[in-house]
Amino acid sequence: MPGLGSVWNEIRRDVHAAQARDPAARGVGSSEILAIWPGVHAVLAHRVAHALLEARVPFLPRLIAGVARLLTGIEIHPAARIGRGLFIDHGMGVVIGETAEIGEDVTLYQGVTLGGTGFACGKRHPTVEDNVTIGSGAKLLGPIRVGHGSKIGANSVVIHDVPPNSTVVGNPGHPVRIDGRRPEGPDADWAHLPDPISDAIKGLASRIGALERALAERGVDPATIPGDEHEPTPLHATRGPNPAGG
Ligand SMILES: CC(C)(COP(=O)(O)OP(=O)(O)OC[C@H]1O[C@@H](n2cnc3c(N)ncnc32)[C@H](O)[C@@H]1OP(=O)(O)O)[C@@H](O)C(=O)NCCC(=O)NCCS
Repeated sequence: MPGLGSVWNEIRRDVHAAQARDPAARGVGSSEILAIWPGVHAVLAHRVAHALLEARVPFLPRLIAGVARLLTGIEIHPAARIGRGLFIDHGMGVVIGETAEIGEDVTLYQGVTLGGTGFACGKRHPTVEDNVTIGSGAKLLGPIRVGHGSKIGANSVVIHDVPPNSTVVGNPGHPVRIDGRRPEGPDADWAHLPDPISDAIKGLASRIGALERALAERGVDPATIPGDEHEPTPLHATRGPNPAGG
């Protein structure tokens, strides 16, 4: 088991990570962060659970992980290997699987999953290298490797390795920046995928416009042409609160 000195250093580094990377924690004292920040609680509980698991203590590691999950909404398997300075912002819904490995100074937002893809045994969760940021709701699935310094966009679904210092977005996740530059190639614009329905409607609208102009040139007013007798179905007023929300 690690000595008290090294445990204290890890705690200090975890608290410092929250102060450095959470804008809402600027000016907040270490003891307040230690008392209130759920991401910090989850990481500290994991460090204890992981040390007990390494020392082959039965039952207790899973119990600690379970209680931490109840209190924070963050589920970290006690066997997951987590480097120093992990910061989990907000945290609710974060899942870190048994064979996941996380390097130093990684940031995770709420709803991030470092999960497996099925029922396979062995190494089945992602490896995340140092200084990676993973946006809220992102799902990283399988024994993939996320290179150091990379950013994963919110709500991405990543199932392939991510090169270092890149930004990956979308489902499936694709790099939109590598070393600060857009990847080259005709199919590399994953941030602006085509919208075939919108393209079809634009095509029809432009065709109708051309036909109306051609008719007008022949002296026919397009408004006088009888149309389909089908009337659009009127929307019915609903009772209760507006379903559109607000
Ligand atoms: C991906 C992210 C980290 C930005 O990284 P970056 O390297 O600075 O990338 P950029 O902002 O330059 O964006 C690169 C491109 O990806 C697009 N993009 C960024 N995030 C995206 C996302 N989540 N989904 C889809 N596209 C995204 C941008 O529009 C941009 O498109 P462009 O090529 O037209 O410029 C950021 O957008 C993000 O998702 N952060 C997560 C933040 C979060 O979860 N906050 C929760 C707080 S509670």
